[in-house]
Amino acid sequence: MTAPVSKPMDRIMALAKRRGFIYQASEIYGGQSGFWDYGPLGAQLKKNLRDAWWEDNVLNPCGGALGPDGEPVRMVPLDTSIIQHPRVWEASGHVAGFSDPMVDCRETKARYRYDHVQVYAPASGDRAGKPVFAFVGDTPSEAKQKKKAEKAFGEVVVVPLSSIPQGDWGHVLAPDAEKPGSLTEPRSFNLMFRTYVGATATENDIAYLRPETAQGIFIQFKNVIDTTRVKVPFGIAQVGKAFRNEVTPRNFTFRSREFEQMEIEFFCHPDQARDWYAFWREQRMKWWQGLGLAGDNLQLRVHDSDELAHYAKEGAGTADVEYRFPFTAPGFGELEGVAHRSNFDLAQHQKHSKVNLEYFDAERGELLPNGGRRGERYLPHVIEPSAGLDRGVLAILCEAYTEDASRASPEFLKLSPRLAPIKAAVFPLVNKDGMPEISEKLHADLKRHFWRRGLVEHDVKQAIGKRYARMDEVGCPYCITVDGQSAAEQSVTIRDRDTAQQQRVAMDRVVAYLTERLDSA
Ligand code: GAP
Repeated sequence: MTAPVSKPMDRIMALAKRRGFIYQASEIYGGQSGFWDYGPLGAQLKKNLRDAWWEDNVLNPCGGALGPDGEPVRMVPLDTSIIQHPRVWEASGHVAGFSDPMVDCRETKARYRYDHVQVYAPASGDRAGKPVFAFVGDTPSEAKQKKKAEKAFGEVVVVPLSSIPQGDWGHVLAPDAEKPGSLTEPRSFNLMFRTYVGATATENDIAYLRPETAQGIFIQFKNVIDTTRVKVPFGIAQVGKAFRNEVTPRNFTFRSREFEQMEIEFFCHPDQARDWYAFWREQRMKWWQGLGLAGDNLQLRVHDSDELAHYAKEGAGTADVEYRFPFTAPGFGELEGVAHRSNFDLAQHQKHSKVNLEYFDAERGELLPNGGRRGERYLPHVIEPSAGLDRGVLAILCEAYTEDASRASPEFLKLSPRLAPIKAAVFPLVNKDGMPEISEKLHADLKRHFWRRGLVEHDVKQAIGKRYARMDEVGCPYCITVDGQSAAEQSVTIRDRDTAQQQRVAMDRVVAYLTERLDSA
């Protein structure tokens, strides 16, 4: 395994802002923590990733690979409401359980997730009457508190705050606090955003913004079965916004309060659940690899049994596709979870709604004398590959970000041509001598051919090297230049972003040249 290359997150964020990928939401009003807006190129990049997921999971599931039953994978799409009946969230367990215990600092008024707070304590175990120093990893408090702790104790160790009995918290100095003992006991904090449906806005009108798209799928399972010809095993796929009032939104878009999920609930017979779980784990890793997250920065991590969510306890388990983000390095952060949810959700909704959600499987059960089957009724088990679209865009941007001081573009994005928002750019070498007329015509031709796949740009301003650099910076894979030979020879040069090599190509071959490369990406 090669050593991880650490990339500078501040420079990735600066490029994302400068080139119109991601802006802070409500920036002119000082911003709104945990909310982000996608600029022109970011919106297109995000759409390309969303489309890739839709194409590879809904329109052509798993690229035509056969499932463990030897059949092509069946998938149907769905698009459900952000606001559902509040009882959906009671049944799913989100009203009672979707909360993180928090600790507040009475002195600084800061609020922390209890499980994120760690403490620098003396390695010897003897604090000699001095306070121990609390911090949250990957924040400025970490280095500050470490320095103070080393000054106080020499050698220090890191322990979770939860390992210190609450009776001793009077000796814990919170991050940025002046006096020890300011942390409150942990309190639960529900992550769902509340709103009111209707004009009266009483307690009876409370509704929630969905914290995941998954529940919309479970509660429409029966309608999908009754109104389409799908048969178990099959999946329902949905992309859409989810909202979580995260206590500590951070690391750019990684932990946001409004984000988009790409979720599949794959329904199968309980006996087949283990095989489908293994199948989806492998498929989802392959998918992210195919988009360019192919090296050591991607891993599949199987959850330990004590990490499993309540619904996964009885099942085959949960595994995360994880990416080594610059802010998690050398560790990894979750990009997608693949969970065996057993029949937890259907059973809960069946119980709370009192509607029978069992599936009648005509192909199972005892063999009848006429050669048919008696059939079997059951609540299908679910394998759930649940990916974050915004985290996906962030991982793709981080992976693509490349520094090379020897190039005219010392920073550039090695985006896969499939995802790149700008597929090609056309330039006249100089803005005279008949070149702009040819490049404008070629640009119009290429736009006509490629607008469904993404943007095709035309740029006449500044020296050619600067224009190449501008396109490299936004990850445009091909730059096409009309030069002094173009009129006479009916040819152009095409420059490859990653190698910076140019190739002379006949003008009437440019569409085919780009089609071949974009198709194989
Ligand atoms: N239905 C299962 C579910 O929602 P999850 O692990 O909580 O599972 C799935 O979320 C994915 O959604 C995560 O792997 C992550 O990519 C994304 N996600 C979750 N919380 C997020 C947040 N606050 N900001 C951005 N993405 C988030």
